[in-house]
Amino acid sequence: MTGPLKNGVFKHNNTVAPKTERVLPLFSLKGKTAIVSGAGAGIGLAVAQGFAEAGANVVLWYHSNKKALDRAAEIEKTYGVKCKAYQVDVTDDAAVKKAVNEQVREFNGRLDVFVANSGIPWTQGPAIDGEVAHYRKVVATDLDGTFYCARAAGEIWRRQGKEGTDMNGKKLENYSYGSFVATASMSGHIVNIPQLQAAYNAAKAGVIHLCRSLAVEWVQFARVNTVSPGYMATEISDFVPPETKSIWKDKIPMGREGEAHELKGAFLFLASDASSYATGTDIIVDGGYVLP
Ligand SMILES: NC(=O)c1ccc[n+]([C@@H]2O[C@H](COP(=O)([O-])OP(=O)(O)OC[C@H]3O[C@@H](n4cnc5c(N)ncnc54)[C@H](OP(=O)(O)O)[C@@H]3O)[C@@H](O)[C@H]2O)c1
Repeated sequence: MTGPLKNGVFKHNNTVAPKTERVLPLFSLKGKTAIVSGAGAGIGLAVAQGFAEAGANVVLWYHSNKKALDRAAEIEKTYGVKCKAYQVDVTDDAAVKKAVNEQVREFNGRLDVFVANSGIPWTQGPAIDGEVAHYRKVVATDLDGTFYCARAAGEIWRRQGKEGTDMNGKKLENYSYGSFVATASMSGHIVNIPQLQAAYNAAKAGVIHLCRSLAVEWVQFARVNTVSPGYMATEISDFVPPETKSIWKDKIPMGREGEAHELKGAFLFLASDASSYATGTDIIVDGGYVLP
């Protein structure tokens, strides 16, 4: 593999289409390994459950929520796949790389899917009045963390693409390309009101364009896409007062927040070969928020 470009233009046939044309097998993740960050609860947990339903062995990452360990045991029992939870801080580049390599070794020596879902909100209102330390933490978690996860996964996919083997030197079965999916946000497209959260909006816009850029850079060995949820009913917005949530509903055509499980389909589509010709794309799942 010598890179996707020659003389400044793309080489022809940089990738190949899946062999099967049947749609449901394309959604299968049977025997594949997926890592999902921020998976102890909320969106990440729903995504991990969806992948397990589709047959993947799943690694859950948590940061502070030790309930992830119980959730992993439940997933193993319910779906009959391998699932384990590990504590990883996505703001620590070296820790991310070490974790990815150790866990891939433990999970059949292969990586197929990585979902960078960890993220924290901006909670300090107007940008001028908030602390710079808070800005740094939001950007470090939401944008830098996504970059570190992408690099660690991308290094493995580049090797898998080149050598066609798992970490033990065994030929990879049922392997196509790596699939990196980041949880961005509709806040990477629009400016939320009434709450002010410039740093979060900027970090999520950064995640979308980072993934578009990596999609081109990695086209020979991995696809890179994002999901942009609107307001979802999870713990991340527990700090928001009910009056503000009522204003949100006024602005959502569907008139309600989404449930985490309503994102499972979008993530599974992007993670699996069902989206084999999609890279650098973003799926907005927001009850119509960005439309009017
Ligand atoms: N809910 C929404 O309305 C909405 C809308 C658009 C986008 N999103 C995005 O969706 C993603 C998931 O959010 P959620 O709604 O499911 O809320 P959530 O349950 O609060 O999820 C956030 C996750 O990020 C993890 N995390 C925070 N700091 C971390 C760090 N330093 N290292 C590793 N993990 C860290 C948390 O892990 P621990 O709990 O273990 O500490 C948690 O699992 C976030 O990226 C968020 O920005 C949410």
